Amino acid sequence: MAHSAAAPAEQYNYDIVRKFTIMAMVWGVLGMSAGLYAASELAWPFLNFDIPQITFGRLRPVHTTLVIFGFGGCALFATSYYVVQRTCQARLPSNVLADFTFYGWNVGVLLGVLSYMAGFSQGKEYAEFEWPLDLAIVAVWVVYFYNFVSVIVRRSQPHIYVANWFYLAFILATAILHIFNNISVPVSLTKSYSMYAGVQDAMTQWWYGHNAVGFFLTAAFLGMMYYFVPKQAGRPVYSYRLSIIHFWALIFLYMWVGAHHLHWTALPDWVSTLSATFSVLLLLPSWGGMINGIMTLSGAWDKLRSDPIMLFLITSMSFYGMSTFEGPLMSLKSVNALSHYTDWTIGHVHSGALGWVALVSFGSFYHLFPRLYDTRIHSTKLIYVHFWLATVGIVLYITSMWVAGIGQGLMLRGFDDYGNLAYSFIETVEFLHKPYVWRAIGGAFFVAGILLMAYNLVMTALDARRERSKLEAKLAAKLART
Ligand code: HEM
Ligand code: HEM
Repeated sequence: MAHSAAAPAEQYNYDIVRKFTIMAMVWGVLGMSAGLYAASELAWPFLNFDIPQITFGRLRPVHTTLVIFGFGGCALFATSYYVVQRTCQARLPSNVLADFTFYGWNVGVLLGVLSYMAGFSQGKEYAEFEWPLDLAIVAVWVVYFYNFVSVIVRRSQPHIYVANWFYLAFILATAILHIFNNISVPVSLTKSYSMYAGVQDAMTQWWYGHNAVGFFLTAAFLGMMYYFVPKQAGRPVYSYRLSIIHFWALIFLYMWVGAHHLHWTALPDWVSTLSATFSVLLLLPSWGGMINGIMTLSGAWDKLRSDPIMLFLITSMSFYGMSTFEGPLMSLKSVNALSHYTDWTIGHVHSGALGWVALVSFGSFYHLFPRLYDTRIHSTKLIYVHFWLATVGIVLYITSMWVAGIGQGLMLRGFDDYGNLAYSFIETVEFLHKPYVWRAIGGAFFVAGILLMAYNLVMTALDARRERSKLEAKLAAKLART
């Protein structure tokens, strides 16, 4: 990972990195608050207030879109633009084109969530945008690809650092997934019908859905891990060879597993079995990557006692390991028969989303933000407080969902001696109330953490401004004296 530490800031376009980082925080606060409100609606349904725009059904895609595409997407734009420029020692080709991706993406996210609240949706999970927004996103994505590849082409380093491989795979795969899953026939500006029907539609949707997990929420964040963990640890990545094996194995295996979302449906049985087999195999590269990240700290474990940013990064990799163990387990047809229609899935999602995606982004932002403003973080103590709020929040969230999901699954398949169902549906709903309350409490801890982080980052930017104006005043006084 060669680059000159003394490189002047003008050598790179940091402005775009700053803008995307700020928007990631804005969407993160809004999206996680929407998640908390949705969780509270499930625990206390009166919170729907019979207002269509904020009922659970509409708020849920608002939450997923804000956290995945708003928070996650902006975090990936910010870090990929930073990492590719630094590791290639080349600037983005054009400020205008970089800004085009910034405004295009963020206006798209905003219009998307407003349209869901107004009741417009394609009805495909994580692909709810109606067709005009889908087309606009293609335009943004093509420019993003051009920007990223141009830096690689103009690099002054012979080598392309592995983090860029992960980012590039994410950009290419997302383009393919987005285009093919969204092919549809528009009937008006706000309504379209998928080109696929029946089981083909379901297959295409979950080929998209799982690869959104695989490339958007995993491969790209691994790119983040491969840059920011060695940087923060001050050590080279544990095994560069392993990182290459990790890359190719992960990219190859993810594409086959989507059908594990459709076990026990009209799908041919062999397709289910194939997806389960590839899902189990996915454990190997996933854990290879986790071990590579964690072992980067070998010989410097003491940093865990003194560096809260390292705590975020190492804990994120532990959750990555945990969720990529749980995923293959849930992909087994027998386990999925219990887990599928329950909150176990929601627990798994958030051990990946909060534990891995959000924590690795927080750690990377704490590393990145002061460097973008050429200053120090406002308060290290607050980073510790954030870390504990987030960790307690995640533990409450996922344990309550394990209890809810496994309990619910067992109740739904409980029989009495005469072969009748042992529980009525409403009894399972009553059972869920307590775990839902605990999940909402966990979510509140997590939201408190990101609010604290937002405060810490704003103060860091203000500190930087103050330092700069002090310096300028000193310089002016000196000049006046001479
Ligand atoms: C304060 C933190 C969060 C809270 C309280 C929260 C809450 C929720 C709730 C209540 C649901 C709906 C569950 C259901 O339908 O029964 C949900 C779904 C979801 N959330 Fe979150 N969430 C949070 C953070 C995140 C983050 C950071 C991400 C991603 C980076 C995320 C990704 C998702 C996804 C993908 C789903 C859909 C899951 C599925 O369909 O199986 N959430 N969340
Ligand atoms: C080896 C890796 C993984 C495998 C094999 C895997 C497997 C699975 C399985 C079997 C399901 C349940 C499908 C169902 O019953 O409908 C699932 C759901 C899900 N997983 Fe994973 N998982 C893995 C890693 C991850 C990670 C790291 C994340 C997040 C960053 C994640 C996010 C999700 C989401 C969002 C869903 C819910 C999709 C939905 O129904 O809306 N997974 N995964």
